[in-house]
Amino acid sequence: MGTKLLCLCLLAALLGYYIYSPLPQDLAEPWTVMLVSAAFRAVGHLSEAAELLGLMHYMESLRLITVVELVAPTSDENVTVTETEFEQVPVRLYLPRRAAGGLRRAMLYFHGGGWCLGDAGMHGYDYMSRRISNELNAVVVSVNYRLAPPHRFPAQFEDVYVVTKFFLQSEVLAQYGVDPARVCVAGDSAGGNLAAAVAQQLSEDPEVKTKLKAQILIYPALQALDLNLPSYRDNADKPILSRSLMVRFWSEYFTSEPALREAMDSNRHVPAESSHLFQFVNWSRWLPAEMRKAHAYGGPTPGGAELARRFPGFLDPRASPLLASEARLRHVPPAYILTCEHDVLRDDGIMYAERLRATGVPVTHHHAKDAFHGAVTFLLWPFKLAVGHRLFDACLDWLKEHL
Ligand SMILES: *[C@@H]1O[C@H](CO)[C@@H](O)[C@H](O)[C@H]1NC(C)=O
Ligand SMILES: *[C@@H]1O[C@H](CO)[C@@H](O)[C@H](O)[C@H]1NC(C)=O
Repeated sequence: MGTKLLCLCLLAALLGYYIYSPLPQDLAEPWTVMLVSAAFRAVGHLSEAAELLGLMHYMESLRLITVVELVAPTSDENVTVTETEFEQVPVRLYLPRRAAGGLRRAMLYFHGGGWCLGDAGMHGYDYMSRRISNELNAVVVSVNYRLAPPHRFPAQFEDVYVVTKFFLQSEVLAQYGVDPARVCVAGDSAGGNLAAAVAQQLSEDPEVKTKLKAQILIYPALQALDLNLPSYRDNADKPILSRSLMVRFWSEYFTSEPALREAMDSNRHVPAESSHLFQFVNWSRWLPAEMRKAHAYGGPTPGGAELARRFPGFLDPRASPLLASEARLRHVPPAYILTCEHDVLRDDGIMYAERLRATGVPVTHHHAKDAFHGAVTFLLWPFKLAVGHRLFDACLDWLKEHL
């Protein structure tokens, strides 16, 4: 009996030690965040173990997070939810049921998950799409683009691009009763990356006559050039996206070869002949002083000429929208950008806001000092966070006024 009790106490202590992680003082709801963080860490560790044992690719087991969160496309009293395909790409469609009273708004939504995970049907995303559809009286097209592995850049981009382009045709907009002047793209994390890239490409596409009204970028990933920005240094181990996981997501977007991941991890993956691109992600120029903090700008070490030849994608603005020239940025739609203080991707979003403003694009930048990466997806039990609701509601309010 005594031994059993001792074992139980030991186990509880170990579990407590595993779950406990010191969090920044200003993070809201620290206990829930700690549980969320521990759950993600546990899945990460199990995935690493499965990969080491040669059972499964790391991303395949990480995808379990997506699978347990899936909900069927079910209509409710306000919104009709169906699944279909646009140009052979699966999409989940949300159509408001209330009387239209004129033409509707529309949003193309791209979910997050590092180009490797996620699904429009995950509980949190489904909930967001429903509320947007109902409260904005909007048609929401949530895209299930192909994921890595097995699909690499530019498959993810191409999928969301063809869906957007298909939807923007005047016959299609008319079929759904959508006002061509009130369509936006939106996404979080890797989906924010895709939304920014789609907005750029559309503004230069002579075949597209309909202009987007807005782009909503929720803690987007916007560049793979410098993976040692102050936000990467400050938040290397914050919930739920560590620096090493982000490096893994970036490299998996292009290849599973460890060489790229290792080069990115040491920030030596951009060859000297591409060093002119650093001006676009030069944080000593684009970050406000309070974000630069005490960090000294060094600039990445050149390297990886061979890698850049084989995987040129990470130097492509369709993967790294921050690399777009001023001339390209000038024509993109007004942006709503959310950044979180405790997020490796914080500085990507801040620099994009600064660069867009510098070219004259209207930007609403909302910086949440008490939030971490992914906060907006934690809207439902068991991981319901007040900060997630606050940030989502702020975004909805902006859309009500600007879309
Ligand atoms: C339907 O819309 C109303 C008004 O916005 C809301 O109060 C209600 O909760 C919605 N129903 C569902 C199932 O979301
Ligand atoms: C970065 O910006 C700083 C300040 O604007 C400048 O002195 C430095 O030369 C720039 N470095 C690169 C690599 O662009």
